[in-house]
Amino acid sequence: MENLNEAFEGNRESWNKRSEVHFVSEFYDNKSFLEGKISLTEIELSELGDVKGKSLLHLQCHFGQDTLSFARMGAKVTGVDLSDKGIEFANVLKEKSGIDAEFIVSNVYDLKENLKGEFDIVFTSFGVLGWLPDLDKWAEIVSHFLKSGGIFYIAEFHPIVWTFDSKFEFLEYPYLKSEMIVDDSTSTYGDESVKVSLRDYNWNHGLSEVVNALIKNGLEIEFLNEHNFSPYNIFENSVESSKGRFMVKGIENMIPLVYSIKAVKKS
Ligand SMILES: C[S@@+](CC[C@H](N)C(=O)[O-])C[C@H]1O[C@@H](n2cnc3c(N)ncnc32)[C@H](O)[C@@H]1O
Repeated sequence: MENLNEAFEGNRESWNKRSEVHFVSEFYDNKSFLEGKISLTEIELSELGDVKGKSLLHLQCHFGQDTLSFARMGAKVTGVDLSDKGIEFANVLKEKSGIDAEFIVSNVYDLKENLKGEFDIVFTSFGVLGWLPDLDKWAEIVSHFLKSGGIFYIAEFHPIVWTFDSKFEFLEYPYLKSEMIVDDSTSTYGDESVKVSLRDYNWNHGLSEVVNALIKNGLEIEFLNEHNFSPYNIFENSVESSKGRFMVKGIENMIPLVYSIKAVKKS
């Protein structure tokens, strides 16, 4: 029997540890960020549309680089994350950059208790849904925080990616909705050279589960795109096929690595 509170606490602990490593990592490159860089990738920048003057809720914001980037682009931003360390660092970045933002420590599933209001945009990206056991409940929260006519946008690693072993040699995990997967590791994608002991609790969700959860909760899908590259160099055996576009060596152009969805909350 899954104990969800234990799983969430475990994930909070592992993300607290990751936040310590990531905040000073080259991967996240806070120096460039503080010099004015926008950390968002070409995918969301080209697909989401203008955020200027819009209120934007960023779910699972880690230490807030993307959240603050949206603020640099003119949005009024609120970032939410389970990791108290992540949000502590988000506030450090906010102070250092002088950018206005609100950051809240909360499990996505508890957000109604911790935040009031409605937003023009709800945004979430890259490495988020695998930490959530129930996408129906997640989509209900997304819809709850959207104004009527508001936009939901997600850019996420494609669920096909999580079916493979880490070297993309064989199928190891189910594609469709899975039982909880407990995974132990000794390093993080942000800096593989730092030894850190992590226990993660994850769930796989196929693409239909994501789309149907959104539809069921009153969101009208404007598009669902599949991308043959990852904007992040996080997979073993990655090759940079063109600037900032990473593919897995040997299976280039064979599977999508990322998908994105834009949806509108029905009036
Ligand atoms: C891979 S990171 C998102 C990364 C983000 N795209 C970035 O690079 O900054 C996943 C985030 O989800 C957060 N998270 C995991 N489970 C959560 C939950 N139940 N509620 C809220 N946040 C959660 C973690 O703390 C972590 O910061």
